[in-house]
Parts: sequence; structure tokens; C-alpha cells
Amino acid sequence: MAGGLGWGSERSGWEAVVHVRADLKVLYFGTPVVLIGSRNPDGSANLAPMSSAWWLGQSCMLGMGSRSRTTANLLRERECVLNLVASDMAAAVDRLAPLTGSDPVPEGKLAKGYRFEADKFGAAGLTEQESELVQAPRVAECPIQLECVVEEAHVFGGTATAFEVRVVRAHVEERLVIPGTDYIDPVAWDPLIMKFCEYFGEGANVAPSSLASAWRMPHQRLREERASVS
Ligand SMILES: Cc1cc2nc3c(=O)[nH]c(=O)nc-3n(C[C@H](O)[C@H](O)[C@H](O)COP(=O)(O)O)c2cc1C
Repeated sequence: MAGGLGWGSERSGWEAVVHVRADLKVLYFGTPVVLIGSRNPDGSANLAPMSSAWWLGQSCMLGMGSRSRTTANLLRERECVLNLVASDMAAAVDRLAPLTGSDPVPEGKLAKGYRFEADKFGAAGLTEQESELVQAPRVAECPIQLECVVEEAHVFGGTATAFEVRVVRAHVEERLVIPGTDYIDPVAWDPLIMKFCEYFGEGANVAPSSLASAWRMPHQRLREERASVS
């Protein structure tokens, strides 16, 4: 047990585990859901759920289907807002799931039951909020909103576009910021996770992290303070 904080024991008995070869059809192992806000050619707002996003420093890589309205908007406008979704927002994300801002709806999407929607915010029951540095919209209900500029776009896997975007302004709900720091409290932040097309949240903190120690992350101090008062 590490530091008496009640962490679970290491996995044991792995020698008995059998691995089978699998021709996996889907590799969606679990990633946070992001609502990408962008502007359509007529200036109206578009909003698309996506979860193929990973982060490095102040940059993010986004994997978007090349035929989505969002892809066209990002290529043209060179900016977007990444609105990070909390786990209690799954219903709003699911209302957006069958919608596209593309009119006509691309054939592949028609077959999957997608329909065109001009007012994605209204359809989702979400509130459009102006950004400060870009034209793309923020989602007021999202606890973390990242205004971004597009640095690079690459064709990826034949049918997708990989966008490298750089965060130029971050807005974070106050309760998520560790007081006196510029860090998010990982215990307070509960992202909606898309795993094999299903929604998950309320992830438990399962073990202490040596990466967090090496990075001197301030939430470790917060955890010690919380442990000492309880
Ligand atoms: C939870 C969730 C995650 C998704 N992840 C992605 C993704 O990572 N990349 C992508 O291109 N589409 C993803 N989609 C599908 C897009 O939301 C869908 O193509 C949508 O029609 C895009 O809207 P647009 O055509 O108006 O841009 C996801 C949908 C949901 C509901």
C-alpha cells in the first residue's frame, strides 16, 4: 500500500491469464469527449462531438472524418474551440450524435441515420458563448473551453484529417482550478469518456502516479492536505 492512502494492491495472478488473438474492428479504448465549436461559411455556429483528441504541451491533435462539416470549417477558418465535456453532459452529447451541419447529408451518413441540423446548439439544448480570440463559439455549459488555432492539417488513414491545433486561450470553471495555481484538480475534473461508443464517467483514482510526482503536480499536495484533515 502506498503512503497509507488506500490504493489497491497490484494485479496478481497474471501468469494464469490467457490472451487470444483478436482481429479488432474498433480501437476506441476510451478518450474524453470534446465538442468542437466552429463557424460555417454563413457565419452560423457548428458544434460536433468528437473523441479522437490527444494533447501535448499547449497543442492537441484532432482526428476528424474528412467529410464532416467541421473538417471543412477548420480548413477554411483555421480556428476552433475545444469544449471539454463533463460526465453529466452525456444526454446533450447524444442529442448531437445523429446530426451533421452538412447539407446535403453525405451518403455514408444518410445510411447511418444522420440528418442535417442548422441549429446544433438549440438541438442539443446548449448555450452559445462568444470566444475572446477566435470567431468559433464556446459552449457555456462546458467546464473547460479551449480557444485554438489550426497549425497543420494532414490526410490521415485515407478518410480522415488530422489537425494540429494550438491553444491560444483557456477558460476553466473556477471550482476546477487548484487555488493559487494554474493547474486543474484531477479529482474535481470528471470528463465524459467515450469507450467503444458508450459513455463513461466518474472515473476513480486507482493508484498513485510517479509521473505526477516527477511533474511536481500540485494536486498531490492537495491530496495530502485533504488526507490530513479527514
Ligand atoms: C461521442 C462521439 C464521439 C465522436 N468522435 C468522433 C471523432 O473523434 N472524429 C470524427 O470525425 N467524428 C466523431 N464523431 C462523429 C461526429 O460527431 C459526426 O461525424 C458529426 O456528424 C460531425 O458533425 P459535422 O458534420 O457537423 O461536422 C463522434 C460522435 C460522438 C457522438
